[in-house]
Amino acid sequence: MRLRRPPLFPATLAMLACCTLAACGPRQDTHPGQPVSKREAIFKQFLRTSEPMGMMLRGSKPFEAQQAQQLAASLKALSTEPWQYFPQGSTYYPSRAKPAVWEKPAQFKAAQDRFIHAADQLARAAQSGNPDAIRPAFHELSASCDACHQDFRGPPRF
Ligand code: HEC
Repeated sequence: MRLRRPPLFPATLAMLACCTLAACGPRQDTHPGQPVSKREAIFKQFLRTSEPMGMMLRGSKPFEAQQAQQLAASLKALSTEPWQYFPQGSTYYPSRAKPAVWEKPAQFKAAQDRFIHAADQLARAAQSGNPDAIRPAFHELSASCDACHQDFRGPPRF
């Protein structure tokens, strides 16, 4: 029985399962230094820190001065991190980085500097413990994220 050639059906299923896993399962970044997955991980940290901050400032979550200070300090520490993981030409899937990252390095650097400065100002404002002082600094920070994405991040790739 075991030696019989297996019917096609399970083999096809197995192949489908493989394809599905490759597309939807955890991706393995096989490129040297794994720059795309490293910067992606840091950008996700940006979200994990900036989102709760935004919620507190909008009032959709109670404002906690100490937590705001910690979140702002984390954002400031993270603000300088992703940029080392943009080596020349690292645009492989699933990267959304536009060619402009490498074609306009001075502008890309300026967008980083605006953001790093905004994160520094936010961390200072958060020391006050006053949401009214923190809010404008947070708006500038968010604007600096958006401005860079506008110029340097393309649509998602599927
Ligand atoms: C100086 C430019 C720049 C700034 C500032 C910036 N980003 Fe990005 N961000 C990018 C680029 C470029 C990508 C695409 C990277 C890639 O896919 O290779 C990206 C990708 C992302 C991603 C997608 C990560 C993923 O899952 O693939 C998130 C989320 C993100 N950024 C959030 C933020 C947030 C939040 C801020 C501000 C707090 C911010 N970024 C500031 C340039 C920037």
